[in-house]
Amino acid sequence: MNPKSAKKNNIRILAIESSCDETAAAILLNGTHILSNQVASQIELHAQYGGVFPEMASREHILAIYPVVQEALQQAHLGLDELDAIAVTRGPGLAGSLVVGMNMAKALSLGSGLPLIGVNHLEGHLYSAWIKMDDQEDHKTPEFPLVALIVSGGHTSLILMKDHHEYENLGSTLDDAAGEAFDKVARLLNLSYPGGPSIQKAAERGSATAFEFPRARLGDSWDFSFSGLKTAVLREVKNLQSDGVIIPVNDVAASFQTAVVDILVEKTFSAAEQFGAQHIIVAGGVSANRALRKAISSQNQFQVHIPPLKLCTDNAAMIAAAGYFRFTNGYRDNLEMDVIPNWPLV
Ligand code: KG4
Ligand code: ZN
Repeated sequence: MNPKSAKKNNIRILAIESSCDETAAAILLNGTHILSNQVASQIELHAQYGGVFPEMASREHILAIYPVVQEALQQAHLGLDELDAIAVTRGPGLAGSLVVGMNMAKALSLGSGLPLIGVNHLEGHLYSAWIKMDDQEDHKTPEFPLVALIVSGGHTSLILMKDHHEYENLGSTLDDAAGEAFDKVARLLNLSYPGGPSIQKAAERGSATAFEFPRARLGDSWDFSFSGLKTAVLREVKNLQSDGVIIPVNDVAASFQTAVVDILVEKTFSAAEQFGAQHIIVAGGVSANRALRKAISSQNQFQVHIPPLKLCTDNAAMIAAAGYFRFTNGYRDNLEMDVIPNWPLV
């Protein structure tokens, strides 16, 4: 542990996140308490294209980054000289988006002398489980060993976490990420972007047993695969269309969502059992899904940690949380290395 940081009780970290279509800045105290949390979302801009338009995203980040960082400082009533470090998402994500946040972080670091901490976006999602929101009286700190399911628009991973920064990647998706499957099936059903919330809304009005879609279990492997499921939905929709039947969108959405949730929950519970983990973290955009939250929480065997909705989708508070635990472990980063140490998913 870094002796200087270990001595301080109150560590304030400013974090910046710009890996996809959210420009975000946040300040956290000791990695767990939010002092400010600002997110400028581009969802409305990209909705008209049915997905993220990378060049537009980076242009919007350039416009938003300075005001968002300034608002985060103002909301926390802090100046740069009262901070201890700057954390920033350095990947994975859209190159033209990431560079905007990284350049802002580098500039702030150069101007203030504050140390930089590069954070992997997925590690950020994972550490959102350590954040205690003011209204979360029942918040519990995750305990090791734990199994983490990270389900976002770009990734689906099952991770065994033995301690801070000690990861074992058990499995990942072999094709589409869970969020990507939601987005693609939503497009197929003419539901709006982003697909996850649209599918959820439609599913809540439909029957989960209307269609029997496949669940890819992949034998003993901890990997996931959603392309077969997506193709099965496509085939069903085409068959119905060729029969001149109006697509029962709500039923298709509900049956699809259940198939995804079943497989995610099943594998996560099996992994926790096999590796002796009492605690489970579910994080990333798809962890906002109500059916998934309900299914993974409806048992007494494991202590399940799912961040509040505000922290499920992209934000900078989670980057500050991950940054804090790296900072207090003595980790520093000039943002020039190719990979982040001890993170198996880069
Ligand atoms: O973590 P995130 O905000 O960005 C990435 O790092 O990719 O995740 C975005 C993904 C999208 O695919 C979106 O459709 C999905 O999370 N998502 C949901 C829900 N809310 C967002 N998927 C299912 N149900 C939701 N309620
Ligand atoms: Zn994300």
